[in-house]
Amino acid sequence: MPDAAIVYLNGRFLPRDEACVPVMDRGFLLGDGVYEVIPAFGGRPFRLDEHLQRLDNSLAAVRIRNPFNRQTWTELIDGVIERNGGGDLSIYLQVTRGVTDKRDHAFGDNIEPTVLIMATPMAGADADELRRGHRAITVEDIRWQRCDIKAITLLANLLLRQQAVDQGAAEAILVRDGKALEGAASNLFIVEDGVIVTPPKDNHVLPGITRDLILEIAAANGMPWREDAIPVERLRNADEVWVTSSTREILPITELDGQRVGDGRPGPVWERMFALYQNYKRRLSGD
Ligand code: PDD
Repeated sequence: MPDAAIVYLNGRFLPRDEACVPVMDRGFLLGDGVYEVIPAFGGRPFRLDEHLQRLDNSLAAVRIRNPFNRQTWTELIDGVIERNGGGDLSIYLQVTRGVTDKRDHAFGDNIEPTVLIMATPMAGADADELRRGHRAITVEDIRWQRCDIKAITLLANLLLRQQAVDQGAAEAILVRDGKALEGAASNLFIVEDGVIVTPPKDNHVLPGITRDLILEIAAANGMPWREDAIPVERLRNADEVWVTSSTREILPITELDGQRVGDGRPGPVWERMFALYQNYKRRLSGD
């Protein structure tokens, strides 16, 4: 990665330290925007179509016009990857409703969306940590009713994740009405008697790209899986618990609220899925 990270902001590629947004941007003032996090391996964006489709869905849900078609998004993302030296990167893109002349809850008219794309180096998972597994805690889900939108307004997620960090845990698993839904920044899987289970997609869960890929890989490899609600007691009694995201991939959770999950080590189904996922990644990034 070159010394000065290059970002794309509103029509220009420029050094990150020079990229500025006006204080009247509704993203800054009101958290009025949506985002995507897209991993790139070997300089190639991973599952780009799926990410751009979810971006489309988020923008439509918050009534922000998508400023670009797929082709333009692809070119801009490739432009950022190239200017940052390629390799394994996490691409962050954000679209806010744009700059207004008055702070107002109502949207206003004829606003040009603000578009930012940036890249940060992505370190692979630490092998020792993976072997040991990670800690997680359960917390009450205090978020809103539209968790399916990838909104930049993340205060609830931040508070919940910080609770986990304060307790030395890697993730907070969010519980609503007695059901475990997802992590503060990840989706949730359990394994019961060899069957992979994840909550169905609805308005309380982000439709994770990694989640869908895991189900796809499971189906293609004859691994039994099911979408089902996960009451907390099922979570506690599961043989395996995983949390998944584009940047953390598939993390085995081996301790939940101070109690061992299964035998306290990453399980065999995780091990198989992790290997299949790495193979899939390598194939797609042309290695
Ligand atoms: N977050 N659920 C939530 C609430 C998330 O924030 C994320 C990802 C996921 C997993 O989605 P995906 O597999 O598409 O990354 C689930 C990103 C990485 C973030 O906010 O940084």
